[in-house]
Amino acid sequence: MQKKIKGVICAGGMGTRLAPLTNIMNKHLLPVWNKPMVLYPLNTLIRAGVTDIMVVTGPEYAYQFVRLLGSGAAYGVNITYRIQDKPGGIADALRMARDFVGGDDCAVILGDNIFDEDFSEAFGSFMSGATVFYKETDNARAYGVIEIGPGGRVLSIEEKPQAPKSNLAQVGLYLFDCQVFTIIDSLKPSSRGELEITDVTDAYRIAEELIAKPVTGPWWDVGSFSGLAAAAEYFSKK
Ligand code: DAU
Repeated sequence: MQKKIKGVICAGGMGTRLAPLTNIMNKHLLPVWNKPMVLYPLNTLIRAGVTDIMVVTGPEYAYQFVRLLGSGAAYGVNITYRIQDKPGGIADALRMARDFVGGDDCAVILGDNIFDEDFSEAFGSFMSGATVFYKETDNARAYGVIEIGPGGRVLSIEEKPQAPKSNLAQVGLYLFDCQVFTIIDSLKPSSRGELEITDVTDAYRIAEELIAKPVTGPWWDVGSFSGLAAAAEYFSKK
């Protein structure tokens, strides 16, 4: 039987960089221009053809996601939910989706990453291993940084390096085959106590099963005030 791509939206975490807004509200429900933030990554998955989507979030505001998204029928998709009790990192959030993904592939999107792009081709051509996406940034130290060599080969991936080896951010959209859950099982928490998604993509790189593709449209990490303002401005003019 042909494998499907299931979608996973990581919408847990503390959102401390957006305090005090996030003192009373989950970051992904904050407005970005005229919509709650999470509708943008949801739309990115839908636009790429994904129809089965799991939202992983913390316990505090989970009911509000259910109020907003329901079963997904209003968006023409199936949405299910899982609770990440504590923010143990993005890879820990993804681990919650193990049974949901089963033997299929998954498209993982961070709930605070906004794109305006159709990723259908990248999703449709995904076979196995992992695909990551990158975009130029002038603030590489704030992101996972990817170094690309001749022929598009990924030479290194580092999370928030002091001395970035490139100006290419690994953005918050990833395609994985179901080996990803075995890789997550082997991870150790980083110095900040989290299971890092960058360690997952680096494991695929070391196994030579990683492909990196450029993001051609705009991209914002709206987990900061500047990103939030820039994305809102863009969509207000669209
Ligand atoms: O925006 C792209 C960047 O996102 C990447 O370049 C980095 O490699 C990646 O680690 C991530 O960095 P951030 O520092 O921006 O990650 P943040 O802690 O803000 O979490 C990103 C999203 O993941 C956020 O929308 C909430 C979700 N999350 C986060 C944690 C720590 C969870 O669902 N559970 C968690 O435990």
